Amino acid sequence: MDIKERTLVIIKPDGIQKKLIGEIISRIERKGLIITNLKMMRISKELAEKHYGEHKKKPFYRNLINFITSDSVVVMIVEGEDVISTFRLMMGPTDSRKAAPGTIRGDYGLNIERNIIHGSDSIKSAKREISLFFQEE
Ligand code: RTP
Ligand code: MG
Repeated sequence: MDIKERTLVIIKPDGIQKKLIGEIISRIERKGLIITNLKMMRISKELAEKHYGEHKKKPFYRNLINFITSDSVVVMIVEGEDVISTFRLMMGPTDSRKAAPGTIRGDYGLNIERNIIHGSDSIKSAKREISLFFQEE
């Protein structure tokens, strides 16, 4: 297990609007994970389409791109042992209505689209997403 594993986390527009930046950062810090990079930004349509390229053919794709570009987001690189799967557990499943209380989506998400948070789903995705959002590294 790689103790320096990294994941890309995005607090989505609904998380910003619900004033959850502090709460989510707090959960990451209290868990013992390390935030190595952090920025607030508005995602461009071009960047959103690259980030969610795997979903291009899905019926929800347009809504997804419109939503993620609709307001500012907070983007972070989070580091820790087995952080990709640890953080996916902390988020809960994609559909907030099915996410257990105690998870970020379970506590704060509205539905499958308004689900507050993104976390990379594999080492390969994490590498790809980190290079998209933090090119200077
Ligand atoms: P994410 O990539 O945002 O961390 O979410 P995820 O891995 O849990 O879910 P994924 O399958 O990658 O889907 C990406 C985002 O697309 C939206 N979605 N909408 N309406 C729908 O059926 C539907 N399915 C997915 C969600 O916002 C999801 O987070
Ligand atoms: Mg995903």
